[in-house]
Amino acid sequence: MPQTTLIIFSALAGLSAAAKSLTDVCTVENVQAALPANNTLLGIEPIISSVTANAVVNATAGGSFMMRRSTTSETLTYCNVTVTYTHTGKDDRVVVQYAFPQPSDFQKRFYVAGGFGYSLPSSTTGGLTYGAIGAITDAGYDAFSTTYDEVNLKGNGSINWDATYMFAYQGIGEMTSLGKAMANPFYGNNNGTKVYTYFEGCSDGGRQGMSQVQRWGEEYDGVVAGAPAMRYGQQQVGHLTSVAVEHTLDHYPPPCSMAKIVNATIAACDPLDGRTDGVISRTDLCKLHFDLDTLVGESYYCAATTSSSLGFGFGKRDGIAGSSTSSTPAQNGTITAQDIAVVKGIYNGLHNLKGDRAYISWQHGSSLSSDADPTWNNETSSWELNIPSTGGEFVTKMVELIDEDNLTTLDGVTYDTLVDWMQTAMVRYLDSLQTTLPDLTPFQESGGKLLHYHGESDPSVPPASSVHYWQSVRSIMYPESSYSHEQSLQALEDWYQFYLVPGAAHCASNSLQPDGPFPEDNMNTMIDWVENGIKPTGLNATVSAGQYSGEVQKLCQWPTRPVWKNDAWKCVNDQASIDSWTYTFPAFKVPVY
Ligand SMILES: *[C@@H]1O[C@H](CO)[C@@H](O)[C@H](O)[C@H]1NC(C)=O
Ligand SMILES: *[C@@H]1O[C@H](CO)[C@@H](O)[C@H](O)[C@H]1NC(C)=O
Ligand SMILES: *[C@@H]1O[C@H](CO)[C@@H](O)[C@H](O)[C@H]1NC(C)=O
Ligand SMILES: *[C@@H]1O[C@H](CO)[C@@H](O)[C@H](O)[C@H]1NC(C)=O
Ligand SMILES: *[C@@H]1O[C@H](CO)[C@@H](O)[C@H](O)[C@H]1NC(C)=O
Ligand SMILES: *[C@@H]1O[C@H](CO)[C@@H](O)[C@H](O)[C@H]1NC(C)=O
Ligand SMILES: *[C@@H]1O[C@H](CO)[C@@H](O)[C@H](O)[C@H]1NC(C)=O
Ligand SMILES: *[C@@H]1O[C@H](CO)[C@@H](O)[C@H](O)[C@H]1NC(C)=O
Ligand SMILES: *[C@@H]1O[C@H](CO)[C@@H](O)[C@H](O)[C@H]1NC(C)=O
Ligand SMILES: *[C@@H]1O[C@H](CO)[C@@H](O)[C@H](O)[C@H]1NC(C)=O
Repeated sequence: MPQTTLIIFSALAGLSAAAKSLTDVCTVENVQAALPANNTLLGIEPIISSVTANAVVNATAGGSFMMRRSTTSETLTYCNVTVTYTHTGKDDRVVVQYAFPQPSDFQKRFYVAGGFGYSLPSSTTGGLTYGAIGAITDAGYDAFSTTYDEVNLKGNGSINWDATYMFAYQGIGEMTSLGKAMANPFYGNNNGTKVYTYFEGCSDGGRQGMSQVQRWGEEYDGVVAGAPAMRYGQQQVGHLTSVAVEHTLDHYPPPCSMAKIVNATIAACDPLDGRTDGVISRTDLCKLHFDLDTLVGESYYCAATTSSSLGFGFGKRDGIAGSSTSSTPAQNGTITAQDIAVVKGIYNGLHNLKGDRAYISWQHGSSLSSDADPTWNNETSSWELNIPSTGGEFVTKMVELIDEDNLTTLDGVTYDTLVDWMQTAMVRYLDSLQTTLPDLTPFQESGGKLLHYHGESDPSVPPASSVHYWQSVRSIMYPESSYSHEQSLQALEDWYQFYLVPGAAHCASNSLQPDGPFPEDNMNTMIDWVENGIKPTGLNATVSAGQYSGEVQKLCQWPTRPVWKNDAWKCVNDQASIDSWTYTFPAFKVPVY
């Protein structure tokens, strides 16, 4: 073919694609024709007769939980598509739902917004802002309206492995590969047209993102993973560490005393980074240099309250997503040595009875309230054991395999019991929920980019858990025998960057350090990296409260750490700091990545 003909031909093809309207493409027939033939995506058989398609025009956008973007004022126009597929030979049914942007808005992108708690992604429309197709899956267990913990058992002692694998990584991976296969034929684009594929999520959504990087790496171009609730066995049982410390020491500190300890720690450690701004930007310096014992004797006061707290979607059967209501009396007292002993035990992390480390804890200055606050018993006028259902339900349903929502007691439970539960869960779910595979070669070799962040004062998923995964990936993919220290850092940051967010809590800014920065714009940073080759040299984070409100900070990429010097934040190397973030887990005989 002469070259001119070719140019005219592609120009015409481009024109005809651009001229298509939503009503042209949003038909059942067009979607059916876009389905990949059986035996194209092995194991996935899309059922042609199941397809639905309807145009949604100028709909009002709903809020989206835990994503930092506000979409409330936007209106949404897209093609709402559902497809049911079956796994070859299984006769099961999996429903996937997609939002295809109208042709004039489509920017050749696919976007998955992660879920949280025990939920898979719940909104198809989060990608429309980016001109991207969005997707959700019912994972074969009605995940649109059911959480994984409601279906993980088929009965006492009997694990629902299909649901477990679908929740762990398979459901999202299949949803993405099927949706991508449909994208070009749906819009009438050439089959070879690149569809940039993104994932963004935090908490379990961060774990879900990591699951895709680990298992479906070739499908994704860019993954933004916040505070991933990964290393599932250790992470979930770890929610019981605080109550195990209280139970073992037989001391239940008044919540007000622990809140005061946290507040006083923040006040004492704030200046260690060089700037007194209400934020501990260096929790490592706090851990290394601040002595909690100095707080004994300080007084505290909290007024009586009736409060309700929102969990992270755990224990959903009890009503609204893990919420609970409690009444506490006025608390007026002074911090005791016993209170401090409990707090030190919690921050020290779980060790077995021989003293070998089993897991890591939150950084000093992180809130203790969600896992450690005891319950007030107004009959005996005392503080009592309050088992958090995050850890409690995980042990009953996923470790003991009993269909109960919470542990009822810690009688007979020692630190060794917690380590045993972690061991059981790690081994049982090693290739599903654990989500710590450290070899990311397929993702890296196909050009994938990973932006990983974690609030440094996260009170739910310890930020050192993220550090440990970064260290695992680095040591597995760039072993010291083949790479120098500098070479491995350089090679890694070309595709995997990790940032600690000073003062931030779990997937959000922190009410106890409200003047801290938070990165709001990660997807734009990621799109720039993937599509324009602009490698981030820091992560923009905006301060939204306090005397520095409006300031945009460039967060330090791990392993560098921030210090305030000559009126500016600098990112420095500090080996003592890195050492304080580095853990081994001798309580387990297999490597813990
Ligand atoms: C794949 O085969 C199943 C029957 O085994 C059929 O229901 C389905 O429509 C087929 N899908 C496609 C895309 O041909
Ligand atoms: C949707 O909104 C656009 C822009 O405001 C307007 O031009 C269009 O007529 C609206 N369409 C419908 C069906 O309401
Ligand atoms: C999308 O399609 C599904 C299946 O037909 C339907 O249940 C749902 O209500 C639709 N959503 C919108 C916003 O049209
Ligand atoms: C499952 O085990 C729990 C605890 O032993 C028991 O209360 C419950 O009745 C059992 N459920 C069934 C369906 O047997
Ligand atoms: C895309 O691939 C399908 C199946 O391989 C083929 O039938 C179709 O003609 C191709 N479309 C374009 C636009 O290349
Ligand atoms: C801790 O600080 C927070 C935020 O400033 C405040 O709301 C709370 O009352 C303080 N608690 C105690 C016990 O000092
Ligand atoms: C707390 O107790 C101290 C000492 O008993 C007392 O002086 C103070 O007034 C009390 N504060 C409140 C707010 O009740
Ligand atoms: C304890 O609290 C319950 C529920 O709030 C209330 O009904 C009861 O009267 C209280 N008992 C005492 C001794 O205050
Ligand atoms: C879990 O059970 C313990 C012990 O019965 C109880 O103290 C705690 O409040 C329960 N938690 C939830 C969220 O139900
Ligand atoms: C980060 O912030 C700086 C300064 O405000 C700005 O120039 C830059 O474009 C931002 N980068 C991204 C990726 O948003």
